[in-house]
Amino acid sequence: MTTWVDACATDDVDEEDVIRFDHDGRTFAIYRSPDDQYFATDGLCTHERVHLADGLVMDDVIECPKHNGRFNYKTGQGRGAPICVDLKTYPVRVEGGRVLIDLG
Ligand code: FES
Repeated sequence: MTTWVDACATDDVDEEDVIRFDHDGRTFAIYRSPDDQYFATDGLCTHERVHLADGLVMDDVIECPKHNGRFNYKTGQGRGAPICVDLKTYPVRVEGGRVLIDLG
């Protein structure tokens, strides 16, 4: 099952940046890569549940603001300590200047 949810405008996210998106009691992070693609993950770090939208985007990596844990935001894969659990990712599509994410 797919449930596409309108998360934000494409212009809401700067290139190589991330914003927070809250929906239905859950928090997500929406990323725009340096090559102008959009990605979505759970919004909280799997280590100590800090908001990743406050972190730093570098290429395909989001760095958590609390202990500098890193994830590949395209795949959700953790990049070593202190991250033990990968990040959940969500399909994204861009339509009419809006970023939609599939929350399943
Ligand atoms: S809370 Fe994110 S690395 Fe610790």
